[in-house]
Amino acid sequence: MDAISVIRTKRDRGRLSDQQIDWVIDAYTRGEVADEQMSALAMAILLNGMTRQEIARWTAAMIASGERMDFSGLPLPTVDKHSTGGVGDKITLPLAPLVAACGAAVPQLSGRGLGHTGGTLDKLESIPGWRASLSNEEMLGVLREAGAVICAAGEGLAPADRKLYALRDVTATVESMPLIASSIMSKKIAEGTGALVLDVKVGSGAFMKNLSDARELAHTMVGLGHDHGLPTVALLTDMSTPLGLTAGNALEVRESVEVLSGGGPDDVVALTLALAREMLAAAGATGKDPADALRDGTAMDHWRRMVTAQGGDPDAPLPTSREQHVLTADRDGVLTTLDAYAVGVAAWRLGAGRARKEDAVQLAAGVELHAKPGAAVRAGQPLLTLHTDTPERFPHALEALADGVVVSPPGTEHQRGGTVLE
Ligand code: URA
Repeated sequence: MDAISVIRTKRDRGRLSDQQIDWVIDAYTRGEVADEQMSALAMAILLNGMTRQEIARWTAAMIASGERMDFSGLPLPTVDKHSTGGVGDKITLPLAPLVAACGAAVPQLSGRGLGHTGGTLDKLESIPGWRASLSNEEMLGVLREAGAVICAAGEGLAPADRKLYALRDVTATVESMPLIASSIMSKKIAEGTGALVLDVKVGSGAFMKNLSDARELAHTMVGLGHDHGLPTVALLTDMSTPLGLTAGNALEVRESVEVLSGGGPDDVVALTLALAREMLAAAGATGKDPADALRDGTAMDHWRRMVTAQGGDPDAPLPTSREQHVLTADRDGVLTTLDAYAVGVAAWRLGAGRARKEDAVQLAAGVELHAKPGAAVRAGQPLLTLHTDTPERFPHALEALADGVVVSPPGTEHQRGGTVLE
């Protein structure tokens, strides 16, 4: 077997055999297939697609490239959630402790932000002392103590995906349905969760810009879960406008704590509850209503235990930005558009995100929204506050927002964000 013949098969729109897939994933993980060969193959897959059978084999080969975790020794059922990523999507933060408070354990392996979408680990790192990297034993210890853990995947979990994802990032090959589905599901299956709920985002701020692409991704991932005996369900949810009122690391932690305190924006609360109910049903844990756990403080109690068990101080003040700039409405009317992609790019340019894997993020940078689409606004009223430690970034963020914030005459149709579509 050699890399050139595998690349040629896919370049010429052929179907990769099981042997070709097993060989190329294994040889790439060991360094025998070079990055330039794998990037050519990834581009051929992006352009020519894969059959359902090829995707299944590719996923199995990526799982087999590393270790599999096992939580079967825990006294509670386990369930995890994965979001395909969006702007202001802080749902994992209140969701994991909420589900733990209702009787299921949540082993949540999360990622960092890249480009315009935020990453759960970057957000949590704005809590002083909090640690993302845990050994498998530490992860189990936090799960036993708090019922939920949010941490980085260890080096040994699906190493083929770790290498391939970094390569796709710099070769414009992220946006391939077969590669996204196999990347996400290989990690989730290797993680060893007992059930999985997928939040597949649709809209300008998501990978999938339209409903039919999102539906295909969701069906493929649910099928891959079932192939591997992992009960998996998917919700399709709107990502045309940001979730909640914040996009940026510390800003989103603050909003998540508001939700855990029984407050927070309606769309964040509604999606958190919808996903919690799906997760509890998938885990077979139907004892407690998650709305009660937000009201009675038990979800907050699990949050505090989880943060503390990972070295964080839940009472420490969160970082705040050195500089702010307020964007106001240019006329009376209705806020009809607050585009998720534009806000995501603005937050990224303010320093909340990174352009390259090795970049540091500014913990306090981001965008705070003062109105949601549909709100009546007056000329001069604040619409957004931009936060950064480096004010020379303001003009770049404002440029990103130029067409993304629209005030129209009263009665004009407006975006309806945050909703569960299917
Ligand atoms: N998230 C992943 O883990 N992999 C992808 O390919 C895309 C999003």
